[in-house]
Amino acid sequence: MNCRLLPSSIEMMEDSLSPAAITSNLGTRFIGQRVIYYPSLMSTMDVARREAQQQASEGMVVIADEQTAGRGRGKRVWLSPKGSIALSIVLYPDAVSLPFLIMLASLAVVHSIEAVTGVKSQIKWPNDILVNGKKVSGILIESRVRRDRVDYAIIGIGVNVNLRVGDFPEIAPMATSLSDELGKGVSRLSLIRRLLIEIEKLYLTLPAGRPIYEEWRDNLETLGKKVQVRSGKITHVGIAESVALDGSLQLRHSDGSLTQIVGGDVTLRD
Ligand code: BTN
Repeated sequence: MNCRLLPSSIEMMEDSLSPAAITSNLGTRFIGQRVIYYPSLMSTMDVARREAQQQASEGMVVIADEQTAGRGRGKRVWLSPKGSIALSIVLYPDAVSLPFLIMLASLAVVHSIEAVTGVKSQIKWPNDILVNGKKVSGILIESRVRRDRVDYAIIGIGVNVNLRVGDFPEIAPMATSLSDELGKGVSRLSLIRRLLIEIEKLYLTLPAGRPIYEEWRDNLETLGKKVQVRSGKITHVGIAESVALDGSLQLRHSDGSLTQIVGGDVTLRD
């Protein structure tokens, strides 16, 4: 017996992610107007990067029903079984807009989850999306910048939608899914379409990134807490005091000194 069989309420939500279903009457100008769909793929990031290197149209989306070698931040593995969302979007932002992509993608996920399911989520710095303290979505930004010019940027978004995280012991302690939270399945199609609309809405406000920064900062659950931040081989401990406009975290140490951290993994400390 396959012990990963999904309950029928979740199976019923296994809607088609065909490009036509995603793009039909989407109402965006360019995000999601072209979609490439794969039933199974190693990583949507690789295909999106290849497309970007060949000047694919801006807003092109690569989506997979499942990834067999999904990537997370810091070269970690990202589990993307069937029932989850795994997509990458090709963008050509200017250099000023680049730091805001992490923030806008996080906000787009928070907005979309709430709009489609009513579930409120929070952002753990820099861009983990949590529901009830557990990770429901992760975002990966990859870009190629030469001199001051951005050749391309790829936003990769993974969302645990219709899966029982208890079936995946490697993520179960720190992850959740929308179906686990709600006790019923969620339409991936509705969530994807809303996500694309939200991303375009926010992207079109750039390069004026301050409003995005302010909303992202106000949604960070990390600020004001005692945290441990692993950044490369260094571990910092302190109070997450604030975030700068470039997205970096300002950590206040017990001796009063301040460290500015550009990227890392946060865990809460008592
Ligand atoms: C993280 O939290 O570490 C980031 C996870 C990003 C996962 C998404 S799923 C779609 C895209 N393809 C990948 O291989 N990774 C990103």
